[in-house]
Amino acid sequence: MLSIEGVRKSFNGREILHGIDLSLGKEKMASVMGKSGSGKSTLLAIMAGLLRPDDGKVLYGDFDIGTADEDTLAEFRLKTIGFIFQDFKLIPSLTVHDNILLGIYPRKDVDEAEKQRRIQALAEEVGLCDRLKEQVNNLSGGEKQRVAIARSLVNQPAVVLADEPTGNLDSKTADGIMALFQRLHQKHETSFLIVTHDQDIAAKTEHIYRIQDGELMS
Ligand SMILES: Nc1ncnc2c1ncn2[C@@H]1O[C@H](COP(=O)(O)OP(=O)(O)OP(=O)(O)O)[C@@H](O)[C@H]1O
Ligand SMILES: [Mg+2]
Repeated sequence: MLSIEGVRKSFNGREILHGIDLSLGKEKMASVMGKSGSGKSTLLAIMAGLLRPDDGKVLYGDFDIGTADEDTLAEFRLKTIGFIFQDFKLIPSLTVHDNILLGIYPRKDVDEAEKQRRIQALAEEVGLCDRLKEQVNNLSGGEKQRVAIARSLVNQPAVVLADEPTGNLDSKTADGIMALFQRLHQKHETSFLIVTHDQDIAAKTEHIYRIQDGELMS
């Protein structure tokens, strides 16, 4: 269970999150909606341990994400959290294959053949198996987004935090990605927290949270 309690975050003296509580259990596939600038990406980054809260707790079970040292946190993130960045954070000069590999290459407990098998399987799931050797530079926005999705799933994380994962996709492709998330949720109990502006995407999750004026509402 990934949970936050009383999380506060300010930037330059302006408080964006005013003490937020949220629990994401194995059984959950949830979404977060809210206006641009309301703090959705900030919330996700804090939950992933990418950003420290000013106050409050960030816990994964007994593990304290909010205070763990950087090495412990990096190891935890690698194995447990799949993160889809709003701006993808891919390496444009590398191929699709190598960008997905970047998600898993530090894992010593997964052998090379298994890494390659997962990359191939995910490329098929997101519809990019014929583009694996293409440089990311040459891809469309929606294709890049699907590379970022594949990279986030390659470690078979227990939790996926997805920042507008379908924002660049047409509705049919977006539905395909949501169906993939739902299959993973049902098969492996992967929990998902999905930031979206799209009411139809949010409606496919079991629970919709809304951020407004620094508060989270269910
Ligand atoms: N590193 C930072 N330094 C200063 N201000 C920041 C920083 N990160 C975020 N902010 C500010 O915090 C507020 C919330 O930003 P955030 O990116 O979380 O919003 P969002 O809800 O994800 O918006 P969008 O829907 O446009 O992606 C914004 O006003 C933003 O300018
Ligand atoms: Mg955002």
